[in-house]
Amino acid sequence: MERTLSLIKPDGVARNLIGEVIRSFEKAGLRVVALKMLRLTKEEAKEFYIVHKERPFYESLTDYMSSGPIVALVLEGEKAIARCREIMGATDPAEAAEGTIRKTFGLDKEKNTVHGSDSPESAAREIAFFFSERELLAGTR
Ligand code: TYD
Repeated sequence: MERTLSLIKPDGVARNLIGEVIRSFEKAGLRVVALKMLRLTKEEAKEFYIVHKERPFYESLTDYMSSGPIVALVLEGEKAIARCREIMGATDPAEAAEGTIRKTFGLDKEKNTVHGSDSPESAAREIAFFFSERELLAGTR
């Protein structure tokens, strides 16, 4: 069993896609084990995306990610990290495979509706960024 962090980004929440996104993950057999809605401050968004701090899109991305409410969820399942990314599709919705969340709902490379951790190390860091031990324990079945 593996866990990953996913975010429903501001464009997804704003367009009433919370249910659709969670449905896509659940349909694929991933289990939601923790979930919350919140709004990041600009500082928090910068911390979350710190690995991208030298990239040209960092300012715009962190403005965007702090522009409205998001949903954070921890997904659990076999190969959850890779499977979550498969279900999301490529970063750029224009390049994402048919049937993926980003192909179906993504607006552009930045407003691409969902986030998913890209490695076990980032999953651990990103889950701890949003959830306390106690909140994660609640997902133990
Ligand atoms: P990245 O880690 O490359 O993609 P992914 O989300 O698929 O793991 O980039 C992180 C986020 O940064 C991406 O979801 C949206 C934003 N981004 C841009 O705004 N412009 C870009 O050109 C890229 C590559 C990413």
